[in-house]
Order: sequence, then C-alpha cells, then structure tokens
Amino acid sequence: MEQRTWKVGVIGVAGIGRTHLAAYEKLSREAEPLCALEAACDIHPAALEKAREEFGVPKAYADYRSLLEDPEVEVVSLCVPHFLHRPMALEILAAGKHLLLEKPVGLNYGEAAEIAAAARESRGAAGVIFQSRFDPRVRFVREHVIPVLGKIRYASSREYHWRGADYYAGAPWRGTWTGEGGGLFINQCIHGWDLMGWLLGGVDYAYGFWANLLHPSIEVEDIGYGVVQFRGPDGSGVPARTVATTCLPTPPVTDRTPWERKLSIQITGEHGEVIANDFRAPRNGFPMADFRLEDPRLDRELHEAMEAEAREADRYGHAADHRTNIRAHLEALRGGQPAPVTLESAAEVQKIIDGIHWHGWFEAGRFREWAHRREPLPRDADEDKAAGWDGGGLWRLFLQWVDQDDSRGQIPFHTAEVERF
Ligand SMILES: NC(=O)c1ccc[n+]([C@@H]2O[C@H](COP(=O)([O-])OP(=O)(O)OC[C@H]3O[C@@H](n4cnc5c(N)ncnc54)[C@H](O)[C@@H]3O)[C@@H](O)[C@H]2O)c1
Repeated sequence: MEQRTWKVGVIGVAGIGRTHLAAYEKLSREAEPLCALEAACDIHPAALEKAREEFGVPKAYADYRSLLEDPEVEVVSLCVPHFLHRPMALEILAAGKHLLLEKPVGLNYGEAAEIAAAARESRGAAGVIFQSRFDPRVRFVREHVIPVLGKIRYASSREYHWRGADYYAGAPWRGTWTGEGGGLFINQCIHGWDLMGWLLGGVDYAYGFWANLLHPSIEVEDIGYGVVQFRGPDGSGVPARTVATTCLPTPPVTDRTPWERKLSIQITGEHGEVIANDFRAPRNGFPMADFRLEDPRLDRELHEAMEAEAREADRYGHAADHRTNIRAHLEALRGGQPAPVTLESAAEVQKIIDGIHWHGWFEAGRFREWAHRREPLPRDADEDKAAGWDGGGLWRLFLQWVDQDDSRGQIPFHTAEVERF
C-alpha cells in the first residue's frame, strides 16, 4: 500500500470545520501520519485566523477558489452551510481534488445524485462524514447480528431534540428551505435515519407529515412523522415508522421507558431485535447498538464477541466520531478503495427527508391546525421548555403509533381526518 501523507485543506472553519481541523491535526502527529494540514479557508477573517493559529495551519485562504488552485492541496474537507454543498463540491471535484463532504450531501436527493455523478467522472475520490456509522457496536450489529435476525418485520425510531430561537438566530441559513433544505429532518434526524438505512439495505420510499408548531422564527419543520420502506438487507423490504421533534427535551429514563432517549431505533426480526440509542453514549450523543436474540447461546456468544471488538476499537481510539470517520476515509484513499461512506450510500437518507417533506407539504398548515385543536400548545419552544411541556396527548398519540409493529396501523393525522374539520 502506498504510504501517502495527504495534504489537506478545510473550507469553513468556524463550526464543525474546527472538529475536522482537530482530527487532521491529531492524525498528522501519529507515527506514520496519514495527513498533514496544508490550508484553511473561510470568508470570516476572525474564524480563519483563529483556526490557523490554533491548529498551526500553514496557509489561510479567504477565497475557496484560491485554495482549489493550490496544487499542494490534495484532499478538501467541505464544512459550509448546506446550500453551498452542491456548487462547491462540484468545483472541488472539477479541480480534481479528493472531497470529504459534511452531511447532508445536498439540499435534497437530486443535488446529492448530481454530486455523486460528478464524482464518478472526476479524478478526485469523494466520501461523506456520517460518524455514527463508526460506533464499533453498530458496526458489529450490522455485520453479525442483522444477518441472524431472520426476516426483519418492522423498524421504528423516535427522536427528542430541543432547539430554541437562539439556535436559529445564530446562523441565518438555518431554518430556511433554500439555506438548509429543511429543519428537524435534514439536521437532527439525518444521523439516525442514515443509520437505519445503512443497517437495513437502503431506502425504497417514504412519506409522512410535518409541521412547524413552536418555532415561529423559522419556516421549516419542527415536528413530523413518517412511514418508510427500507429495502431490507436481503432486498425483501422492511416497513418502518418514525417520529421526531425539536420541541421536546429528552425525557427522563424510567423503568417503563428504558430506551426513551434523544434517539432510539428499534429493529424487530423473526429471531430477535436490535436497539440502538444514545443511552450508553453520553460522550457525543450518538447511538450505540445492543440486541436480544431468542437463542440464548447465540445471544451470549455474539455479545461476548461484540464487547471484545468494542474493547479493541477503544484501544485504538475508534468511536462514532469525526476522527475515526476521517481516518477510515484517508486509509481508503491510500489503498485506492471506495470511501467508507460513499456519496451514493449517504444520499439514501435524503429519500426519507424528501419523501416526508414533499408528501406533507400541502398539509403542513392543516397539521398545525389539527394539533392546536387537539392540544393546548405553548406559544413557542422557549416557553415550552420554561413551562416543562412534555408534548401532552399529541406526542403520546405519535408514540403509540410508532410502537404498533403492525403495518395496518392508522397514521394519526391524515387527509380524511383533516377533511372532517
Ligand atoms: N457531522 C456532524 O455531526 C455535523 C455537526 C455540525 C454540522 N455539520 C455540518 O457541517 C456543515 C457546516 O455546519 P456548521 O454548523 O459548521 O455551520 P457554521 O455556519 O457554524 O459554519 C460554516 C462556516 O462556513 C463558512 N463559509 C460560508 N460560506 C463560505 C465560503 N463561500 N467560503 C468559505 N467559507 C464559507 C462560514 O463563514 C462558517 O465559518 C453543515 O453541512 C452541517 O450540516 C455536521
């Protein structure tokens, strides 16, 4: 294998770009370094200067095109707002640089497919950051547990996030259709839904409903639920349901709701089930996986093997984080292999986001009206947090709905019911 030390440039260094810089910097100090930091770029001079000083980056560019013209830069991490992913990724690939793109690939599936097509024509290789795929237990489950579940009958996910007005006021591109491409779904849910798609063989289609209930300062969704058809590891299809919101903080864990965390995913098969949540991952909030199998001997053997792999991964500092994702990406580049997270596989989750957005588009106002008729709602998310609103009957209804692993389950809000108003 060619022992290349990739020279790296990072575009967008105020937010998550700093995590990329820190990861590259740490990797560059290993005995056989995979990379060396070459350049940073940002239109924000103070952010650029801070990044340059803190991470010892030799070159600083205010214009990303100057970075692309720099022949020394071989790999580019793109860490800019969503609406810039498509135009800038296409230019990076046209310049023949290798691209490591932050999620989401694009504002929608169409943009993601366009970038993937450009990458297939480019001299540069491309990949994506979806760090939750690198949790050692999640990887073990995908490889060794999913295949012994038998026919997978059903999957579900639920997500509690809370975002106040400040979060959106801090970055004007957020909370807009043209800047962010959505809200809750494309920013918060994308990690868990990507994981489900990755475990369950990709996405066939999705539909659902959404509304903006408690965030008057933004135009995109803060609550929603969807029906998703995953392709299934064996191609035979897995029906799934999902419910999520940015209006509710994570509830406390009780005996009745041991899995009720910020994000929980459940996959039920003929011979057992997989549960992934952030219960045991307080460090970065990304889910870790566990499972129960009906065969006690197999269950014990696989748990022992999983824990041994997790200990081994821990020894090397491998986790569901950016450094592990970036390391795997650079190693694949070195070996001439496909990226560990390909553009094509990262684009799958955008079918879920688009499917729910588009299906629910014309019903968003009526969903709001329906929610207000059912439930006394706080005025906005900040008031809701101050008053300790727990989602009331509305949220309980959605939770019951995702928990019914019966494909005939009624969607709690649908056109026929709304038309009765
Ligand atoms: N994987 C994760 O867990 C994770 C976490 C946070 C953000 N992200 C993703 O990272 C991306 C950036 O998000 P963020 O929260 O860091 O955003 P941010 O707004 O905090 O930072 C974006 C940076 O890009 C810079 N920028 C904007 N236009 C530019 C241009 N033309 N040239 C150079 N720099 C430019 C801005 O000045 C800013 O410094 C998004 O795609 C987001 O979804 C991923």
